[in-house]
Amino acid sequence: MADDGRLPRYPFSFRGDRLAPELAESVAHRPILRVRTNTGTDAWLVTGHAQVRSVLRDRRFSLTLTSDPWMPRQDPLIPPLTVTDIRTHCENAGLLHDLFRGVGPCQQYLTPVRVREIATGLLGTFLAGAQPGDLVGGFIMPLSRALTMELLGLDPEGCPDDATLFTIFRTGPESHPAVPDSWALAQEWMRGRLPGLRADGGGLLGRLLALSDASGVLGEEEVADLFVFLLISQFGNPATFLGAASVGLMSHPEVLARLRADPALLPRAVDELLRWTVFLGDALPRIAREDVRLDDVLVREGDLVLVSTDAANHDPRVFPDPHRLDIDRPPGPHLRFSDGRHRCPGGPVARMQATETLRVLLELTSDLRLAVPADAIAWHRYYAVTLPVTVPVRWTARGAAAERGPGRGAG
Ligand code: HEM
Repeated sequence: MADDGRLPRYPFSFRGDRLAPELAESVAHRPILRVRTNTGTDAWLVTGHAQVRSVLRDRRFSLTLTSDPWMPRQDPLIPPLTVTDIRTHCENAGLLHDLFRGVGPCQQYLTPVRVREIATGLLGTFLAGAQPGDLVGGFIMPLSRALTMELLGLDPEGCPDDATLFTIFRTGPESHPAVPDSWALAQEWMRGRLPGLRADGGGLLGRLLALSDASGVLGEEEVADLFVFLLISQFGNPATFLGAASVGLMSHPEVLARLRADPALLPRAVDELLRWTVFLGDALPRIAREDVRLDDVLVREGDLVLVSTDAANHDPRVFPDPHRLDIDRPPGPHLRFSDGRHRCPGGPVARMQATETLRVLLELTSDLRLAVPADAIAWHRYYAVTLPVTVPVRWTARGAAAERGPGRGAG
């Protein structure tokens, strides 16, 4: 595990359908350990549920300080300063309330009916294509992009392609010039959208822009950065989750069969998939503002603390038999959307999109299955999120999709 004879090198794995054995071992036996990061600096890796939650809820562990160039880092690249602590920037600019409302359980920008309509159209096209087909490239990505434009109220014209947007999630021991380039492209495109958003005023971004203009706290560039963050959060995170969740579900045909028979179980299944899938290809970083004792470890002021919510979601003290995908499990306090001050505000809208997408997948296919063994699926290496490169699938179309004609068999 330790490549230099001393410290284990983190991250351990990039798979979204199974926790790395090193994390499973840590969470069970040693929930705080010293690791070496991608940049070669040392950090505390926190994996136990209680310890992870206590770090996330403790303001002595700062997210803002992770963008300080003098602090130890997980990865060589620094995102634009204004997107490290979105919450504080939104608070200062008077946007927080409307951001939370715009992605919360009562948001009006993207209804379940609309998600089903969009998903039905895109899935119908995918299912009319050749088999095996790639569920990620053929359905999940176009769907995520379409839902993003709808929720945010963006005209998609000229938006950077999927690969460019996903490049922003790249991590690793090397600095990738493609990351700042991709960010710059997305930011330039977003700046070009601002006049249209101002004129139109509709959609979530239109609303946030009107508030931002009224408060005058953020400059044009900062607004564009904030909106790019929201763009990649809404595009990349739900796509990542759906990629890993679909692999997880197809590796458990008995669960798929139960959901087909009783779609009312879907919200429960989505919650369990949020717990069970491994989402982060990295960890959530924090910097200690002062000396803090965590269990028997003294974290020193300025230390980098890496929080693995994926490991915490597999803590056997909180989730018995944690590696089992069990949709009958009583709802537990999983940390997929983080916790404390920086808890993700997009949880409700992300859950709704996943539930409705899986509903449509089940409605339009009768035996969706992996076309290769789950172990043969490749996952992108060195990304902040765990994305399968492709998910080859086979199916029998049913309902409206069957009327468009079955997918052709190939290979
Ligand atoms: C399955 C989908 C999603 C997952 C798993 C997810 C997860 C997360 C996580 C782990 C964080 C980091 C919190 C931290 O550092 O403690 C975060 C932050 C954030 N997410 Fe999400 N997210 C998802 C979807 C969304 C969506 C759809 C939006 C809205 C468009 C969104 C908006 C945000 C924002 C604004 C933050 C920054 C919060 C802050 O700085 O305090 N997320 N998300």
